[in-house]
Amino acid sequence: MNTKKDKPIELPQEWPGSLHYGIEEVKAVTRIVKAQSPFRFYGVNFQHEVEKLEEEFADYIGVKYCLGVSHGTAALQVAFAAMGVGPGDEVLMPGYFWVSTVGAVVRSGAIPVLVDVDRSFNMDPENLEKKITKRTKAAVMVPMGGVMGQVSKVAEVCKRNKIFLLEDCAQSSGASQFGKKAGSFGDIAIFSFQINKNITAGEGGAIVTNSEELYKKAFAIHDLGYIKDEEGNLDTGNEDYQFWGIGCRMNEVTAAIIRVQLKKIGLITSSMRNFKYELVDIISCYKGIGKRHIADPSGDSGGFLKMTFDNKETSIRFKEKLIENGIKVRQGGYYPVHMLDWGMHVYSNIPALVGKKSYCGHHSVWELKENDFAKDYKYEKGILPILDDFVERTVLFCIASKLNDEHKALIKKAFTETCNQLLEKY
Ligand SMILES: Cc1ncc(COP(=O)(O)O)c(C=O)c1O
Repeated sequence: MNTKKDKPIELPQEWPGSLHYGIEEVKAVTRIVKAQSPFRFYGVNFQHEVEKLEEEFADYIGVKYCLGVSHGTAALQVAFAAMGVGPGDEVLMPGYFWVSTVGAVVRSGAIPVLVDVDRSFNMDPENLEKKITKRTKAAVMVPMGGVMGQVSKVAEVCKRNKIFLLEDCAQSSGASQFGKKAGSFGDIAIFSFQINKNITAGEGGAIVTNSEELYKKAFAIHDLGYIKDEEGNLDTGNEDYQFWGIGCRMNEVTAAIIRVQLKKIGLITSSMRNFKYELVDIISCYKGIGKRHIADPSGDSGGFLKMTFDNKETSIRFKEKLIENGIKVRQGGYYPVHMLDWGMHVYSNIPALVGKKSYCGHHSVWELKENDFAKDYKYEKGILPILDDFVERTVLFCIASKLNDEHKALIKKAFTETCNQLLEKY
């Protein structure tokens, strides 16, 4: 007989925003469809949805300008172009990111330079400063999983060295540090609304900045390459804004969904965060399990718990034991994952970076005359010793944004049993 005890409990998927979809999102989409107006600049019964989202998102982050775009990768590409990043430039970034972060630099024609991480798994400001050269145009902070590192220090280093700071907040909608939102520390920031992110419309992205100049350039580049006048007509005569546009506009349906999700962002992130810190309370009772340094836990958006062990063997055993102790892993899902299997989040796992491949089969940016200084730059495992070491010993546990009491009890029991089996109590 298949009793309840025998049956593994299926945990919910990890996609934070979409688990909270409800009638509000349905109504928002229906409104745009009924208005026959899915395009951001005009339509039959034009709803101005993208404009409204831009205003609300800028206000939420605490910056002056926001530009909606089609996805986070496009937001990065547009942001680098707006900062004038190109051949001859170096862009500094941590080696823990997502492939899109470094890809956008390479497609800009610039050279990525990798920086090691601190105990928060974010870019270390001291290592950053050491790597700044006269060719450095920008640095990129990437708060992975909604945990912000020493972002104020990084911003200060960038300012002192007169380089741009871009915050890649694709994974950090709703995160903050001591009351200041992720995306409000640098010169420009990007967000993603792809399905794995805290708020989602399946795809979507945003660029935020306090700089009118960067905003205007980003606006031009994201559309046709030109700005618009007050009446909304293209102004092709302004020589400061004659670029090649990418055409990565946000559509009205995306904006309508994200406007609803923005109202739920506190609920989504607090549900992940609250349960994450229940698990932190459990693991804190044991020796040999280190937690990621989080300066302000109340600003953590909560989607991932990282646990670093004394050695690789224990970390691998811990992951296996969690599964043995009842945490069912959905195929292709995230519960729990060892950082060694974390794919293109880690620099040395990206074949096109390690192999210094070209954008589209022609030339590689490392072969450009302007980038001659970088022809011997290396991206193989070993160049970031602190990150490399963390990767060997760290397990991630993904926190779903909707867990019922039964799910929570199962997870907590699996954590307690695993800790008891492998570690010693304080
Ligand atoms: C850190 C980071 N940057 C950029 C992106 C790219 O966003 P998108 O998938 O919307 O293009 C992602 C998405 O996974 C990401 O995690």
